[in-house]
Amino acid sequence: MSIKDCKIVELPKISDPRGNLSFIEGGQHIPFDIKRVYYLYDVPGGSDRGSHAHKHLHQFIVAMSGSFDVVLDDGQQKHRFHLNRSYYGLYVCPMMWRDLDNFSSGAVCMVLASEHYDAVDYIRDYEEFSLAAKLLPNR
Ligand code: TYD
Repeated sequence: MSIKDCKIVELPKISDPRGNLSFIEGGQHIPFDIKRVYYLYDVPGGSDRGSHAHKHLHQFIVAMSGSFDVVLDDGQQKHRFHLNRSYYGLYVCPMMWRDLDNFSSGAVCMVLASEHYDAVDYIRDYEEFSLAAKLLPNR
């Protein structure tokens, strides 16, 4: 899997004068079953998150409120995605280095993940990631 597999997905949006509603079904709108949800909030201005890759984890990132950027790097190419609507999300395949920055005030970053938390699944050293990514097909 390469950066070409990482895409912005438009989610269903039920517009209603009482307030809009969007939903995400594992295996339907995103290509994995959801085992974990976590969220970043109260992010101070100028703060960066991420700076790691996951060996096996699939993720889907949604700006539930406010906005922020996700920079994906597959070892060869980088792409910056701006998330600012709660009916769009970014699918992130395994073995993608990610940096999150440019958080607006009040931003809430929700992440749907394919596995429970596992520290062993992280690669936190960029050189180690870059070497491992070179061995993958399509990189
Ligand atoms: P980390 O994934 O490094 O944060 P980010 O990528 O958003 O910058 O996680 C930060 C800390 O939180 C780290 O000590 C691990 C812990 N953590 C959990 O315990 N469970 C989780 O589901 C996540 C995502 C993190």
